[in-house]
Amino acid sequence: LVPEAVLERARRDAKRLYVGKARGEHSVPQDQIEALMIEEAKAGHRVVRLKGGDPFVFGRGGEELEAMRAAGVPVFVVPGVTAALACAASAGIPLTHREHAQAVTFVTAQAKPGGVDADWTRLAAPNHTLAIYMGVDRAEETAARLMAAGRAGATPVAVVENGSRPDERVLTGRLDGLGALVRGADLTGPALVFVGETAAFSAAQPDVRTEAAA
Ligand SMILES: C[S@@+](CC[C@H](N)C(=O)[O-])C[C@H]1O[C@@H](n2cnc3c(N)ncnc32)[C@H](O)[C@@H]1O
Repeated sequence: LVPEAVLERARRDAKRLYVGKARGEHSVPQDQIEALMIEEAKAGHRVVRLKGGDPFVFGRGGEELEAMRAAGVPVFVVPGVTAALACAASAGIPLTHREHAQAVTFVTAQAKPGGVDADWTRLAAPNHTLAIYMGVDRAEETAARLMAAGRAGATPVAVVENGSRPDERVLTGRLDGLGALVRGADLTGPALVFVGETAAFSAAQPDVRTEAAA
């Protein structure tokens, strides 16, 4: 999730170890990442575990913090701008709005295998923006669950791919068409799904960055 331009800011003599994850593909298992961090820190190196967004929002930062503490490695956590905030700002989707959304929830559509699934009944409440992480592979199922729990099929949705990057794409539609929207989009980059009245705001947003560049 970290683009090359960000890596370019690292000091020249830093040793870079790639442990990232492309969508659906794990290059290094989590326990090995933690073991590597401990090994490098104990060898006297300063370790920077670089992540996209915020390490404590669907970033497994909590597990890594626990592992470092257990190993006696001192840790300093730097907060980041999580994808929901970055995508919302970039696509012009207010997460809350006095008339349309009194609450916002960050939720993942991917439960841990054997773990607790999200409570879709609670998430289907009206006047509520959902920012769904890792949600495109289960978009159709998620939409069906929300509608079964009472969310209207006409509820606006937006899918933001590569949010806040130069290749950002924003797709908009309705909850009852979310599956088809995602299927037809050929998404290859990280994407976030917004559900709620506020998602309709994205279409009205002129892109001042593009206009300024033109
Ligand atoms: C493992 S989670 C990591 C989230 C990250 N810690 C954060 O705070 O943004 C990965 C998911 O975040 C979302 N995501 C991350 N970067 C994104 C981006 N630039 N645009 C859209 N979605 C993004 C996608 O839903 C992706 O599947």
